[in-house]
Amino acid sequence: MGRLEGKIALITGISGGQGRAAALAFAREGAKVVGCDLKAEAAQETAEMVRGEGGEMTSIAPVDLSDEQEATRWVEDAAAVYGGIDVLYNNAALARIGTLAGMSTDAWHYTLKYELDILFFVTRAAWPHLVKRGGGSIINTGSIIAGRGSDMPMAAHGAGKAGVIGLTKHMALEGGNSGIRANCISPGLICNEMFEQLLKDPNDNLYKQIRTSPLGRIGQPEDVAGLAVFLASDESSYITGTNIVIDGGQTLGIGMSFGQEPAPLFAQPVDLPEAEGEKLTIETLDGESEAWLFTPREEKGPWPGVMIYTDIMGVRPLFKSMAQRLADAGFAVLLPNLFYRLGPPLDPPLSVKNSGEFGELLGMAGTLSKDTIVRDSGAWLAALAARPEVKADPLSCVGYCMSGPMAIWTAAAHPGKVGAVAVFHGGHMVMKGDDSPHLAFKDCAARFYFGCAETDAFMTGDHIATLKESLEQAGRPHEVEVYPGTYHGFAIADASYSREGSEKHWEAMIDFLS
Ligand SMILES: NC(=O)c1ccc[n+]([C@@H]2O[C@H](COP(=O)([O-])OP(=O)(O)OC[C@H]3O[C@@H](n4cnc5c(N)ncnc54)[C@H](O)[C@@H]3O)[C@@H](O)[C@H]2O)c1
Repeated sequence: MGRLEGKIALITGISGGQGRAAALAFAREGAKVVGCDLKAEAAQETAEMVRGEGGEMTSIAPVDLSDEQEATRWVEDAAAVYGGIDVLYNNAALARIGTLAGMSTDAWHYTLKYELDILFFVTRAAWPHLVKRGGGSIINTGSIIAGRGSDMPMAAHGAGKAGVIGLTKHMALEGGNSGIRANCISPGLICNEMFEQLLKDPNDNLYKQIRTSPLGRIGQPEDVAGLAVFLASDESSYITGTNIVIDGGQTLGIGMSFGQEPAPLFAQPVDLPEAEGEKLTIETLDGESEAWLFTPREEKGPWPGVMIYTDIMGVRPLFKSMAQRLADAGFAVLLPNLFYRLGPPLDPPLSVKNSGEFGELLGMAGTLSKDTIVRDSGAWLAALAARPEVKADPLSCVGYCMSGPMAIWTAAAHPGKVGAVAVFHGGHMVMKGDDSPHLAFKDCAARFYFGCAETDAFMTGDHIATLKESLEQAGRPHEVEVYPGTYHGFAIADASYSREGSEKHWEAMIDFLS
């Protein structure tokens, strides 16, 4: 007999991660599970996995629990079909990252809505059904961030999760008389597909957080599911109003070493020429953008024109040196400030290696979109083409990391002007939705080179396969190379640099653009 035999358990957010693991674990213990999620297909997949093991589960999706009526209907439908509710596991949540000073009111409200409102709507609807059964167990999902904070700027998320812990106590207080127990699970970092990739990179901030925690590993969704089964079962019948941390000691260990020092990280970068370039001011549709022009120091032009889009850290001395190195190979290179709407390049620049600064950079990157790059790129290309040092041939565009998609969108918006695109460790080039960069190849007239990192949370092996397929379908000449032993950022000396990978990228880029 299972530990949850015959119990009717509602679980929110079942399309993957902890929700999926809980659905499987609850059903294995004999519960009848009803789940919901925003994502219908993945939620259905979970239900099929449960049924494939002989368990009982219904998935109702898409359901958006932030809509009061949808949340209530999901609970009522579940209770009507199964005849009641014994366990409610509030797992679903979504949050926005951002500094206090930089966070929009919309992002703040979004986070509280998807952390707190959804939990309130679902619990309020389930309450009378739990009372009717003579009680039951509510399991909420907090986070260690509520108590400890985070080195990433996640104030809204921290506030939301602290709210969940507070709400749990009141549920326990109000529910005791009716036999309703309420507890909160506060996980530390728990593995999902993105964390799994990031943790392979010893240069990544997450790596240090995990390696310096007592157990030295990231948690698995199954770890959390085990605790949820216990809280759902009668074994925990004298536990209510608590917040249980499940984090492998991450809360204790951050910043400490437990004999598992991360490996020495950075290879010595190859010296690059110092260069300032010629500063230009370019009129765009939305204002004035700075850009810097670099030409070979020892030859006379005209030269083929190349536009380089920076990574998330923007225009900085390193990227000017990179532009000069490319220029010295026989090109006229334009380096525009992608973030000109926010002001001139930051001096000193922010670093992705500092978690707090990385959060700020993510906020800045959030101001860029397909629309902004399509609006800006015409002006930048025209300014480059108008220079007497630039040959009349089609221009080329190079993108790194976050600007991989931007280089593709630029080529798609200006097929008559952009003849070649090279992208190195580009991320998010294969996304869900109609705006995904890989769907834009059909609008391009360029040839493409992609130098991908072997381990990249933002461009996995599956994404690379899809990228190749779409290039083929669009009939675009292309080469896609995976650089062995490299991580996202390998070409850039102040990112996850690999000397070998970076030098190979120079060779490949110059060869491709020549
Ligand atoms: N993964 C971690 O490191 C971690 C750490 C601490 C706390 N948590 C918390 O654990 C819970 C699960 O995290 P996860 O990593 O498995 O996340 P996840 O993103 O994989 O799963 C959350 C699911 O909730 C669904 N969802 C969100 N809003 C919804 C809505 N309005 N209506 C219906 N479905 C909705 C999402 O579609 C998603 O499938 C969350 O509450 C999260 O905040 C996670």
